[in-house]
Amino acid sequence: MDVLEAIQTRRAVRDYLDRPVGASTVNSLLQAAVQAPSAMNRQPWRFAVIQDAARLKRYSDRAKELLLADPKLDQKTRVYRDLLSAKEFNIFYNASTLVAVCVEERGPFSDADAWLAAENLMLTACDAGLGTCCIGFALGVLNMPEVREELRIPASGAAIAPIIVGYPKAIPPAPPREDPRVLAWLT
Ligand SMILES: Cc1cc2nc3c(=O)[nH]c(=O)nc-3n(C[C@H](O)[C@H](O)[C@H](O)COP(=O)(O)O)c2cc1C
Repeated sequence: MDVLEAIQTRRAVRDYLDRPVGASTVNSLLQAAVQAPSAMNRQPWRFAVIQDAARLKRYSDRAKELLLADPKLDQKTRVYRDLLSAKEFNIFYNASTLVAVCVEERGPFSDADAWLAAENLMLTACDAGLGTCCIGFALGVLNMPEVREELRIPASGAAIAPIIVGYPKAIPPAPPREDPRVLAWLT
């Protein structure tokens, strides 16, 4: 699969087979992630890999509580209130693996660096026949003090880009994309 094909076929996968992702596969995704560009080549990314279903379920349950209790829930998240309230809903869609792309130290460009690494990881996973999905819903729980401690995220850092990885049961159709809206093209 070439890069363009991976870009075009990658989808947010929310339905997974009950099949683990092996350590060598996860390592190959991390190797791809660290090839991303980073500001001043600082490579601030660090990775927490979670493949323990019980722990993921605990994090999911806590994330749902946090999101539902947050008075600053934005309008979009509010739309998901019913989903988040459903006992059986797992914010990680029962994927076998969560890779939390973290940063060692937060700086003006560190979040961008982490997301660029995350995109490399997702495109490489797509090439390997794996599904992925960014899980913004997980940011609150992953950055709770006790969870940061479990994931060994340093005090100066943060979890930035939570990405689930697994073997897809179903790949959804591509949501429509708007054509690029060019604000300016000055020649
Ligand atoms: C920063 C970010 C956070 C996201 N958070 C979630 C999430 O919490 N749960 C979810 O199901 N999808 C989440 N998504 C996936 C988007 O909904 C998905 O990428 C978008 O609908 C476009 O679909 P596609 O990725 O298949 O092109 C997130 C995507 C991004 C980039």
